Amino acid sequence: MAEEAILGYLQNHEEISDSGQFATDHGLDHSDVVNVIKSLHGFRYVDAQDIKRETDVLTEEGEKYAEHGSPEVQLFLAVPAEGSILKEELQKLVDPAVFKIGCSQAAKNKWVQMGNQIYRKVQHVEDRIKDLLLQIRDGQEIDTGDKKSLKARKLIVVQTWKGYSVRKGPDYAPIRRRTATDLTREYLQGGDWRNIEFKEYNFSAKGPPSEGGHLHPLNKVKDRLKDIFRLMNFEEMPTNRYVESSFWNFDALFQPQQHPARDSHDTFFLKAPEMTKQLPEDYVELVKRVHESGGYGSRGYGYDWKREEANKNLLRTHTTAISSRMLYAVAQLAKQQSFTPKRYFSIDRVFRNEAVDRTHLAEFHQIEGLVCDRGLTLGHLIGVLQDFFSCLGMDKLKFKPAYNPYTEPSMEIFSYHKGLGKWVEIGNSGMFRPEMLRPMGFSEDVNVIAWGLSLERPTMILYGIDNIRELFGHKVDLALVKRNPLCLIGIQ
Ligand code: PHE
Repeated sequence: MAEEAILGYLQNHEEISDSGQFATDHGLDHSDVVNVIKSLHGFRYVDAQDIKRETDVLTEEGEKYAEHGSPEVQLFLAVPAEGSILKEELQKLVDPAVFKIGCSQAAKNKWVQMGNQIYRKVQHVEDRIKDLLLQIRDGQEIDTGDKKSLKARKLIVVQTWKGYSVRKGPDYAPIRRRTATDLTREYLQGGDWRNIEFKEYNFSAKGPPSEGGHLHPLNKVKDRLKDIFRLMNFEEMPTNRYVESSFWNFDALFQPQQHPARDSHDTFFLKAPEMTKQLPEDYVELVKRVHESGGYGSRGYGYDWKREEANKNLLRTHTTAISSRMLYAVAQLAKQQSFTPKRYFSIDRVFRNEAVDRTHLAEFHQIEGLVCDRGLTLGHLIGVLQDFFSCLGMDKLKFKPAYNPYTEPSMEIFSYHKGLGKWVEIGNSGMFRPEMLRPMGFSEDVNVIAWGLSLERPTMILYGIDNIRELFGHKVDLALVKRNPLCLIGIQ
């Protein structure tokens, strides 16, 4: 309807100067007219120019006063022409919404004397406010001072009206050509395809953005890492326990009870339940002994090992707590049956009582891998690390001697970062000490090589994020999660 009216009108006229007027003249809805103009403009049938008009319209309150009179007049009329009225009495006579404004305006105009007793000071008043409002409603212009005061009383507001002026466009035609978007069976059978105009393909058109679920970058990188581990024949360890005892987190790993990491400044200890209920007693005894006096060629630490300290519950500070549980289980099984070599990995959350900054949070994720087999050497560790990190696209590695209470030797792992043009630390590794493995029940010829790194570090590098708080926690950038539909690690 609107489309025919507009195109038809332009056939004989230079211009539609005002779409609003045009809609009224043709009995059309202005919003329909606007939509058609936009579409015709898009297809270059017409050229459209914005027009804007500002008009004053009555607010809901203004409408009420235009109907029933201004509050001050309503109040004035409620005051008796002769004598006076008590304030409470007057209050009963008028609308409560009107009373307060009416009193103050009527008093300001010196129409009434306020007080306990209220009486008229003039005999007759005119309702200018109502008159002004009616004029505005009729579209008449009023004095700017009056307009200002009506605006200040929130009786009128400015409404912006938007419309178009329209002229013929470069591709104008009196009737819009319908273009076909598909070659259908009907077109072929009926021979219409000969005459039909086909719409051109728009190869640069973007589809609507997908609003489905989006995986968080950490989850995507984690999934790919799991694939890499599985390709390398590693089994996943069950990590579903954030709460751990100090025993598995520290003692089983030959970490002495006075070690600074155990300090509550670095570790979150639990208040309830404060202590673990169960530990394998025979093994606890062997761990105590190795801490106190050593064995298996070690001198131990030579201090009084305390059971209460080992019983304390905490939020695990590393996933190596899980590795110690798993290795203990492997050793127990080896005692009953025969030893089977294992390759294990885990990726899960750990907690440290650290000051939060751009690169540190109090919780983060650790990736951990280990191989347990006979006769492993440092060379095997380096080889496994080369394999693993080259799958992440990091094939230039360097190692630096380091210290962990539970590994000897220990190595920090560095990778050459092309973007930064320097070597960056990416992980920590080592061979688990006999003081850790022998009390578990492993024989002397069994070694364990292991490494650990954070999941956040490679994820931040891959996604170009430099503040960890954008990646994890309550300030996470949801747009970033949506913008990055794919994980960038390739398996080589
Ligand atoms: N647990 C170590 C850490 O928290 C990582 C690691 C795991 C080091 C295994 C050596 C062997 O940093």
